[in-house]
Amino acid sequence: MTQALDIIRREHTRIGSVLTCLRALSVEVSRGGWRPHSSLLFTILEYLDSFAATYHHPKEEQHLFKMLRQRRPECAATLDRLIREHTEGRALLAQLRESLDAFWRDPRSVDRFRQAADAYLTFERRHMESEETEILPLAETALKTRDWDEIGQAFSDSEDPLFGKSRARLYDELYDYVLEHAPVSEEPDDD
Ligand SMILES: [Fe+2]
Ligand SMILES: [Fe+2]
Repeated sequence: MTQALDIIRREHTRIGSVLTCLRALSVEVSRGGWRPHSSLLFTILEYLDSFAATYHHPKEEQHLFKMLRQRRPECAATLDRLIREHTEGRALLAQLRESLDAFWRDPRSVDRFRQAADAYLTFERRHMESEETEILPLAETALKTRDWDEIGQAFSDSEDPLFGKSRARLYDELYDYVLEHAPVSEEPDDD
């Protein structure tokens, strides 16, 4: 397994963990256990938006998918769908943010918030599962050593403003904060 694939899979694990925290928190909020204006909820949504949309997805689109498209043109439709899903996921997250704002103004809109959280969670999990089952195994066999070297170099360029160490450190700190403060879910996580 290449270092670049390790990075993508590790980032999926992190996004998955934060989604689990979001689910636990949305359950607690709808039970009245957490105040809707909890800064933890806003931190989670900020983390998901920034980490996924401006850190993880560009790695996929600008490097992994781009290289795979060159080596395996027949998977273009799948790659196009996954790229569309990046945009769709961000739109669902924007709806979730709006529902949180509405909930903050009026606690009676709890159902809208819970539904928006569930819709986003389900969508993102399916998206990552699709990448893990359809694209990553294909990339593992289709890309050549020099392709992986090129991708790996882009991912580990510490001076890169997008993928550099300072951004990685910030996301590490946010991730630790979220996992430390989120409640543990008592409901089965069956999305
Ligand atoms: Fe993706
Ligand atoms: Fe991904």
